Amino acid sequence: MSVLDLARAEIRAMQPYSSARMEASGGTILLNANESAWAPFGEAGEGCNRYPDPQPVALMDRLAALYGVRRDQLLVGRGSDEAIDLLVRAFCRAGEDAILIQPPTFGMYAVCARIQNAAVVEAPLAADFTLGVDAVLAAMTPTVKLVFVCTPNNPTGRPIAPAAIERLAQALAGRALLIIDEAYVEFADTPSMAGLIDRYDHVAILRTLSKAWALAGARIGTLLAHPDVIALLRRIMPPYPLPLPCVEAALAALSPAGQAQARGRIHQIKAERARMADALATVPGVRAVLASQANFLAVRFDDAGGTYQRLLAAGIVVRDVRRYPHLGDALRLTIGTPQENARVLDVLRETP
Ligand SMILES: Cc1ncc(COP(=O)(O)O)c(C=O)c1O
Repeated sequence: MSVLDLARAEIRAMQPYSSARMEASGGTILLNANESAWAPFGEAGEGCNRYPDPQPVALMDRLAALYGVRRDQLLVGRGSDEAIDLLVRAFCRAGEDAILIQPPTFGMYAVCARIQNAAVVEAPLAADFTLGVDAVLAAMTPTVKLVFVCTPNNPTGRPIAPAAIERLAQALAGRALLIIDEAYVEFADTPSMAGLIDRYDHVAILRTLSKAWALAGARIGTLLAHPDVIALLRRIMPPYPLPLPCVEAALAALSPAGQAQARGRIHQIKAERARMADALATVPGVRAVLASQANFLAVRFDDAGGTYQRLLAAGIVVRDVRRYPHLGDALRLTIGTPQENARVLDVLRETP
């Protein structure tokens, strides 16, 4: 059985859009795409009178080297959010199929499913935020086409054990695509599970330049998967997903100097995370700081709502995660600069 047998038959059968850029072969006078022949105003838009390369080879090569995969195993899009949406649309028939998630987890899996009118099956994490493979398998139904696992998980920061993920991968063969969201893996002690895609055609990995690479504004996310899955998603992806200035920003970030800076920052963020976790644990009103392998900390407070308001009044915006199961007393604090973190501690230490 091929993983494509799990996909929507009409997506496999449809004739995809063929863009002018795809059909062009060479030439120097480009009159095939109804673009402007003149450069736009201002230096920032240089080159932007032309439609961009749908999947620029230079960027793909750098990402393939970074993630340790082949170029034909990559789909680059507008953040990993776009890959989540494409996966749901390609694999889930509206009103019939489902995805499976383990709350508390990243919200976009369920949102994309609901937009597609796919059901959302929940197999909650245990109270200590570990993933029970048996619980996930027990929740599986024949309609579940996609299983999302987020590691390190958002909003807890806790990684999922690699052995559990491997067991899930084995058990889901022929049943569902397993998508491992590694948005925060650069901050973790556990390595990427990207090697799994060479062994299982039904395993895919999400990576992003939005976190460790400081490029949330450029919207560059990557799906690593079997070339058949990549080709399937390209059939439904809009023709020009990657704006030229964003590609240039990504190429700069992935240059040797950019990589050196990113590695230094990751090191600094991990050190700040440890420092903040220790310091927060001594702040009056803090019940617990969850051990995190991401660039944020989930913190339990005696009065999370009041603390949120107090931080906000001081100009500090954190994420209220009280709506999630087992996190009814928690806020999520991203690790900032040392000065920003110090300010958070000062405000929290002031007696209300
Ligand atoms: C777990 C997880 N996955 C994916 C994303 C989306 O990231 P991107 O900016 O690549 O769309 C986020 C963003 O916060 C996230 O926390």
